[in-house]
This record gives sequence, C-alpha cells and structure tokens, in this order.
Amino acid sequence: MIDVTENTPRGRSGVDVRPGITPERLSGLSRDILVLKKKLNAVILAHNYQVGEIQDVADFVGDSLGLAQQAAKTSADVIVFCGVHFMAETAKILNPNKVVILPDKDAGCSLEESCPASKLAELQATNPNFWTIAYINCSAEVKALSDVIVTSGNAVKIVNAAPIEKDLLFVPDENLGAWVIEQTGRPMRLWRGDCYVHVEWTHQAISRIRREYPNAPIVAHPECTKAVRMLADEVCSTERMVSYCQRSPAREFVIATEAGMLHRLQKECPGKTFIPAPTENCRCNECRFMKMNTLEKVHDCMARLSPQIELAPDIIQRARLPIDRMLEISSRP
Ligand code: 13P
Ligand code: SF4
Repeated sequence: MIDVTENTPRGRSGVDVRPGITPERLSGLSRDILVLKKKLNAVILAHNYQVGEIQDVADFVGDSLGLAQQAAKTSADVIVFCGVHFMAETAKILNPNKVVILPDKDAGCSLEESCPASKLAELQATNPNFWTIAYINCSAEVKALSDVIVTSGNAVKIVNAAPIEKDLLFVPDENLGAWVIEQTGRPMRLWRGDCYVHVEWTHQAISRIRREYPNAPIVAHPECTKAVRMLADEVCSTERMVSYCQRSPAREFVIATEAGMLHRLQKECPGKTFIPAPTENCRCNECRFMKMNTLEKVHDCMARLSPQIELAPDIIQRARLPIDRMLEISSRP
C-alpha cells in the first residue's frame, strides 16, 4: 500500500517522487533487487544522498569520486547507478561497452543546468590560454570541453597540479571554486553556478545551531557559501565527512549537506548523533533530484534494463580524457 504524505518531496514534474511505503514492501523489493542483480551480473552504485533503503541494497555507497573509481574498475556487465544523471553519464564514459541504467533519467542537478556546453564554449573562445577545470557535476558535453575533471574530494589536489602557465577557468560551482582558491592560493575565473540545496544554509541559521550545540563540530560541504564555510570546523566531501566523524572524539555533529548523508553517517558511526543543519524556513536539505530515485524505480529499471545512458561516441571519447586525468592525479601519493 502506497501512502503519499503531505511532506513528500516533489520532482521537476511536480508529482510525488518518494511516496511512503510499508516495511514489508521494502524488504520484498530489496530481495527482488538482489535476485535481479545476480541474474544481470550487475553492480549497484549509490551516492551518499540516496534514500536509506537504496543505500542499504547497494554494493558501494560513496561520494562522486569513490563512485567514479568504482565504475572505472567494475567487472560487472550492468551498472545500476543510483544518483543523478551526470554521475551515471560518468560511469558510461568509463564503460562505453557496458549497460548503465539509472532509476530516473530526469534526476538532474542545478549545477549541471547552470552550465550549458554552448555557453562554456563561447567563454573558452575568449581566451586560448584557459585551462578548464570542470566539477564532475556537469554534463558529458561540458566534460568533453574540459581539460580535467574534479570532485569535491580531490579538487584541491588537482588544482595544485594544474599547469602554472595557464589561466584557470573553474566551472560550474562558484562556491566550491572559491573554497579551492582559498585552499590553493591559485587564482581562477569562476563560472556563476551553485547547488540550489547547499546555498540554503545561512550564516544566521548555522550560528543559531552552534549556540544550541556548542560542543558539536559543524561539518559542511564546500558547495556551501563562504558565510557558512567560515563557521564550519570541517569543510569536506561527503566521503571525508565519514572519516572525520569516525576519527573525531566528539559525540555529536551538525551536518550541513544533503539529508541522505545522515543515514550513511549513522551507519558508519554508531553511537554518535548527527544533527541536520537547519535552513531558514523550509525542509530544503533534500535534493529533489537525488530524491527522485526510489527503491521501486531501482527495481523497475533493473527489470526493464531501462532507462539506459546513451552518449555519442565522440562525446565519450573527448570526455574520457579529462576524467582519466582526474583519476590519475587522484591516485598520486
Ligand atoms: P560529493 O562528491 O562530496 O559526494 O558531492 C556530490 C554532490 O552532488 C554534492 O551536492
Ligand atoms: Fe546537484 Fe546540489 Fe543535488 Fe548535489 S545536491 S546533485 S549539487 S542539486
């Protein structure tokens, strides 16, 4: 029985995308997914922002970098990518001969939307000395126009390794870009894009929660604005949040990133308490794109082998180079 509640997040189409569902139905679906996984010789990769029941059925749960690394080395025939569209595209670019499916092909990203490839090409044409560094949250076409890809987990390392004689152009997240400039001291021209979720946290709301929980370190994603980052005890990728909270002697933490992260943190750090950082007036810490995926859709995409990621061969070829460059630099000691 599907129970649709008033607070259910809505997708771009405005229809409910994460209906409530009984525990019996969830465990039935999880069992069926495991059977399909075996039959298809599939691997299920899930981002840290996926709903708990998807994380629980996945072979690997992680950040964008970890997911790309897993996709690069998998021997499975089918990759079931539970995240947003650009992440599944990255898996396809790394595995052009494998089937890559995703639960909902409309699961986009505000950062990806902010940077159309044609506009980037126009800007690149204004300076032949640009070295384009693209955050992985962008389309395959934008990746194909870029010199190197970064994630929040390796951006500092990769910018530090960028050719010194080049003018660095960082797309599409201005907040992550500004944080990387602070960390590396390398000037960069920044594309004006942002994550519509991470810019919801404000200096005032974070200051308030700090007063309420004075002993809880504040852990923020670098997609947050500077006004929030400056209040944080740790600014890092979602994967680093796990190791930071495991290592820290603190017992409670305030987490300024998408709500799905709390499920992962709770699992990896039993006995510790995670407080979602408050936004001003809304339940804005859920990414409507990430939350378009449900366990039912994971099941259905595996049963139908659809929707699949399909990309033009020349885009795959051109986008592969900057992704390979990222993976190579990331693996350096
Ligand atoms: P991570 O690579 O840190 O998981 O971040 C991905 C993302 O989409 C953040 O909003
Ligand atoms: Fe994109 Fe933000 Fe959603 Fe991450 S949380 S997928 S950056 S819209």
